[in-house]
Amino acid sequence: MKIKYLLLEGIHHLGSDFLKEKNAHVEESLESYSKENIIEKINSEKIDAIGIRSKTNITKEIVENADSLSAVGAFCIGTNQIDLESCQKKGIVVFNAPYSNTRSVAELVISEMIALSRKTFYLSSLLHQGVWQKKAQGSFEVRNKRLGIIGYGHIGTQVGLLAESLGMDVVYYDVTTKLPLGTSSVCPSLKDLLSTSDFVTLHVPENKETKGMIGEKELGFMKSSACLINASRGSVVNIKALAEAIKNKKIAGAAIDVFPTEPRKNGPNFESELLGLENVILTPHIGGSTEEAQKNIGSEVSLSLYKYFALGDTAGAVNFPKVIAPPINGDYRLVHIHKNEPGVLAEVNSLISELGININYQSLSTKESIGYLLMDFEMDEAKSTELSTRLKMSDKLIKLRVISN
Ligand code: NAI
Repeated sequence: MKIKYLLLEGIHHLGSDFLKEKNAHVEESLESYSKENIIEKINSEKIDAIGIRSKTNITKEIVENADSLSAVGAFCIGTNQIDLESCQKKGIVVFNAPYSNTRSVAELVISEMIALSRKTFYLSSLLHQGVWQKKAQGSFEVRNKRLGIIGYGHIGTQVGLLAESLGMDVVYYDVTTKLPLGTSSVCPSLKDLLSTSDFVTLHVPENKETKGMIGEKELGFMKSSACLINASRGSVVNIKALAEAIKNKKIAGAAIDVFPTEPRKNGPNFESELLGLENVILTPHIGGSTEEAQKNIGSEVSLSLYKYFALGDTAGAVNFPKVIAPPINGDYRLVHIHKNEPGVLAEVNSLISELGININYQSLSTKESIGYLLMDFEMDEAKSTELSTRLKMSDKLIKLRVISN
C-alpha cells in the first residue's frame, strides 16, 4: 500500500521528490486549506500524512476527525500552529526541522557585526539621500574585538566558530554548562559578558527567564562603543529601553531581526521605536530565511516522515518519544501506540505468547500520555492478521501499524 501524503503551502520540491522516489502517493497544493477542506480531504482520500508550513492550523477538531492520519510534517521551525497534545493523544506523530536554518542565522549575525562596525547601513542611507560622508573615525575592524554570545546553543556556537575565523575573541554565557568550541571561553556572569564585549549577540529561546532579559539595566552595563544584535526572539529585548540607549549614545548601534509584535503579512506601516535611529539595522525576521534553509527543511522533514512509515523511527519527533529504529528483524514490524498506563506490555506479551509467536525485537518508550512499542516478528500473513485483530480489541490501544519487511 502506498503511503498517501497531502503537502500544503508550497513545500520545497525536494521534499515531494524524495517521497515520490520512495514510492509514496503525493498530492501538493501551493495554498493552505481550510479546516473543513482538510478534514474532507483526509477522510475521502484516506491521507496518512499531512505536510504544512506556518499558515495551516492543525486543530483539535481536525485531529479528532482525521482517523487515517498518522503523521504531521511541519516543514518549518515552529509547531505552535499544531495542537501537539491532541495529536499525541490520537497517536499522530509530529515532525519539524528545528535546526535547518542555523547556519543562515549565524551568517546574518556575522554580516551585521561587520556592518555595524563600519556603519555601512547608516553611511549607505546617507549616500542614498545624496550625502557623501567619508571618514575613518568611528569605523573599526572586527578582528581582535570581543564577541559576547548569550545562549550558546545551535546558533550561538555556529556564530562563535565563524567569529573566531575572523580573529575575534569569543566569550559566551549560557544557563546550562556548555563545552567551549574552538578557543571560546565561558563568562562567569551575564554582567561580565555585557560589560566586556564589543558586540553582544542573543541566541536564547523565548521563555519566562529570557522575556525582557535585555532592558535598561543590562544595556547600562554595556560599553558605549558596543553594539547589540538580536536575531533570537522579539520578547528578549526591551525595544523602548534599546531605543533610549541608542539615542543617548549609551551603546553604539544595534541590529534587530525580531520584534515583540510582527506583522502577519508583508507590506507598509511597520512601527517601532527604533525606526530612523542612527546605526540601527532593522530586518524583517529574515535570519533563517534562505533558499538553503528551505531546501534543508524540505529534505529533513520528508526524511523523518519516510523513516516513520518505513521503520517506525521517531528520532525527529516533537510529541512522541524519540526512538531511533533499527532495520526490521523479521517479516513484520508492529508499531503499537497505546495509552501510557500500567500493564500494557504484559497484556501484549501474554497475547503474543498465547498465539505462539516469537519476538525478534521489542522496544518500549513512553512520553506523557502515550507508550510507543516496536516489535519485530517472524510470522506468516495469517498470524500477522490474527495478532493485529486481537491487539485492536484492547481499549488501551491508540493506533496500530503493521510494516511488512
Ligand atoms: P538552542 O536551543 O539550540 O540554543 C539556545 C541556548 O540558549 C541553549 O544553549 C540554552 O541553554 C540557552 N539558554 C536558555 N535560556 C537562557 C538564559 N536565560 N540565558 C542564557 N542562555 C540561555 O536554540 P537555537 O536553535 O540556537 O535558537 C536560538 C534562538 O534563535 C531561538 O530563540 C530561535 O527561536 C531563534 N531563531 C531565530 C531565527 C530568525 O529567523 N531570526 C531562525 C531560527 C531560530
